[in-house]
Amino acid sequence: MAFVTRHFIRSMASSSTASAKKIVIKHVTVIGGGLMGSGIAQVAAATGHTVVLVDQTENILAKSKKAIEESLRRVAKKKFAEDLKAGDEFMAKTLSSISTSTDAASVVHSMDLVVEAIVEKLEAKNELFKRLDKFAAEHTIFASNTSSLQITSLANATTRQDRFAGLHFFNPVPVMKLVEVIKTPMTSQKTFESLMDFSKTLGKQPISCKDTPGFIVNYLLLPYLLEAIRLYERGHASKEDIDTGMKLGAGYPMGPFELLDFIGLDSMKFIINGEASTSMHDWSLPNKEPYDRVSGGSNPIGGSASENLALGRRKAGRSDLGRN
Ligand code: NAI
Repeated sequence: MAFVTRHFIRSMASSSTASAKKIVIKHVTVIGGGLMGSGIAQVAAATGHTVVLVDQTENILAKSKKAIEESLRRVAKKKFAEDLKAGDEFMAKTLSSISTSTDAASVVHSMDLVVEAIVEKLEAKNELFKRLDKFAAEHTIFASNTSSLQITSLANATTRQDRFAGLHFFNPVPVMKLVEVIKTPMTSQKTFESLMDFSKTLGKQPISCKDTPGFIVNYLLLPYLLEAIRLYERGHASKEDIDTGMKLGAGYPMGPFELLDFIGLDSMKFIINGEASTSMHDWSLPNKEPYDRVSGGSNPIGGSASENLALGRRKAGRSDLGRN
């Protein structure tokens, strides 16, 4: 409780010294200690923020902290290669800025920002935001790291639609420089600018996008990657030649299969197979149409990967292609 009180006082101080226009974000709760949440917590703590990382059990949180420690060790080794003592100090300071909790409601009242990075399920996220809305301080900004759910739908679970936005990080968070800041029609300029500033303090490059399916990067990247998989599955080209083609012919730093290896196919699964894929497709926004166009009438994002690949085979008229 003392922890919470201390944070509450500090939080009020940081908010009152903030400019009238923006909130200076110092105290952050990250909800979900998985792949993304751990990375976000690590980067926020390493850049001078106090962080409370929340997950469902102490066991999961212990694993999250272990993952953060290992990742920080790699960062420290690289960043302080010439000065091991400074590396140790950096690690110790960062880790001491991260506390953990299994009860988000008991910590959010002292926060400037709540970043949600739980499972990609609309119902679970809505339930969480609706509950936390009752406990969070008035000024607290809520942000979701969702890749494919509509930010507006999430904001509507709360009464703070003006203090709600998307904050979309990329995997692995400590390495990837980009953050997409997603503004819904209800997000205030103050919230938007506060999140742009926050992203910069993390050492990231923020870009902004409206609340549109897949935002910028996944909107363009997913059809590209799926088409690369189909090309290979149809047996029309090898993975190596596809990668070489895109690097030397299109100037990409990595080919699509090298990229899939780098980000991990797992990180695409929740979009290809998960509930999010359906919701991304279901958005009743005018510009969901290009997804349909890419697959020639069906939905590459909405179908399972195998369905999509089977579609590629049917379209090629060669049921044998791509089968080893
Ligand atoms: P993950 O499965 O690694 O982690 C999710 C964590 O949330 C788990 O530790 C789980 O125990 C926890 N959790 C679930 N419900 C909870 C609740 N009600 N309260 C507290 N904790 C809860 O998932 P990952 O990959 O970290 O993804 C999280 C979010 O980030 C998703 O919305 C995903 O779309 C998004 N995202 C994922 C990327 C990726 O490459 N994996 C990239 C960008 C965004």
